[in-house]
Amino acid sequence: MAMAELTTPKTTSPFLNSSSQLRLSSKLHLSNQFRHLILPPLHATSTSKISCSVSQNNQAPVAVQDNGSVKTKKECYGVFCLTYDLKAEEETKSWKKMISIAVSGAAGMISNHLLFKLASGSVFGPDQPIALKLLGSERSIQALEGVAMELEDSLFPLLREVDIGTDPYEVFQDVEWALLIGAKPRGPGMERAALLDINGQIFAEQGKALNAVASPNVKVLVVGNPCNTNALICLKNAPNIPAKNFHALTRLDENRAKCQLALKAGVFYDKVSNMTIWGNHSTTQVPDFLNARINGLPVKEVITDHKWLEEGFTESVQKRGGLLIQKWGRSSAASTAVSIVDAIKSLVTPTPEGDWFSTGVYTNGNPYGIAEDLVFSMPCRSKGDGDYELVKDVEIDDYLRKRIAKSEAELLAEKQCVAHLTGDGIAFCDLGPVDTMLPGEV
Ligand code: LMR
Repeated sequence: MAMAELTTPKTTSPFLNSSSQLRLSSKLHLSNQFRHLILPPLHATSTSKISCSVSQNNQAPVAVQDNGSVKTKKECYGVFCLTYDLKAEEETKSWKKMISIAVSGAAGMISNHLLFKLASGSVFGPDQPIALKLLGSERSIQALEGVAMELEDSLFPLLREVDIGTDPYEVFQDVEWALLIGAKPRGPGMERAALLDINGQIFAEQGKALNAVASPNVKVLVVGNPCNTNALICLKNAPNIPAKNFHALTRLDENRAKCQLALKAGVFYDKVSNMTIWGNHSTTQVPDFLNARINGLPVKEVITDHKWLEEGFTESVQKRGGLLIQKWGRSSAASTAVSIVDAIKSLVTPTPEGDWFSTGVYTNGNPYGIAEDLVFSMPCRSKGDGDYELVKDVEIDDYLRKRIAKSEAELLAEKQCVAHLTGDGIAFCDLGPVDTMLPGEV
């Protein structure tokens, strides 16, 4: 999912809008381990970070944290601080402990749809208070402020904190989820190799920042394209975080595939289940009609036009993003945001009996013979604890095997192109005679 916003590491902290309800603070890039040794407390430090809250009477804000200790939290003020004591109000007594969610590319179109779903409670549930940590670029800082203001004005009861900033080392502090959307879109005439390098640098930097400051069990969903290889770069730069916690978003492809099958079969799309997307989020991806089901029956029994399944269906899913760009003039945003929500929900709610979902995961001991050390989309199930298991007994016939091998070869080639960013030596970039495309580039 390409995003029009590029997040760059920040350099200075030039921004302060004293007339607004947003405030700026700053801090150096340091891991948690060393921060306390040489830095003054958070509110007195110096890289760009803006904390956002609704200004309300001029009282000094007091945050009461979960352990009961009361402390002044000077980098926020107003409503978000004053209501921070989740046990103080009747309504909040049954609420869970607040979770912190980072979103990069936060001023872009996808985020604009996503953030309001997160804040409304429709993703993590009506009893889950959240803090949003929004990462943008220096260029987008005004727009980020606008996003934060709209979040303020929405009065979401579950939204307890909003911070905006340009420094991943600051924004990712203690986050439990990182939704990495910001990436540079491939421009006209740009080689895929160049795109891999430019975006790879961003994800290497963000991996390092997550490694240094995020919660050690942070779950990371990479959306910025090329998302599989970006996820691989990110996890390689975050050795302290389990590789299993990193995902590349292929849920949009799964949703698109379900929609196409439903259309052809003349059923509503909730009747389609067991939909796997294998491989890369690119035009080599393999939507698996062999194992998918409609009304509980194998797709091939319901849709007898097998030529359509092999050609029409497969291509329509692989190229859906491109068709959409032709219509819209920009890449998918709302449906991407919805698929991010679906991807998260699949990890935080138990997978229905007998079903599974697709997500790009790190290959480490998979039963399908896919090369190890890639991020590859596969069928997974979850108990709803944020973790997942591979579904291990899916049938692969010759048709699928051949196509899965093509997507695998593409990912192996992409991996070689970014070896300098994954610690695997010197990069060598040969993407073959056909420079394959992101779904949106066809
Ligand atoms: C999509 O699948 O819609 C996007 O990934 C397309 C793109 O290249 O932005």
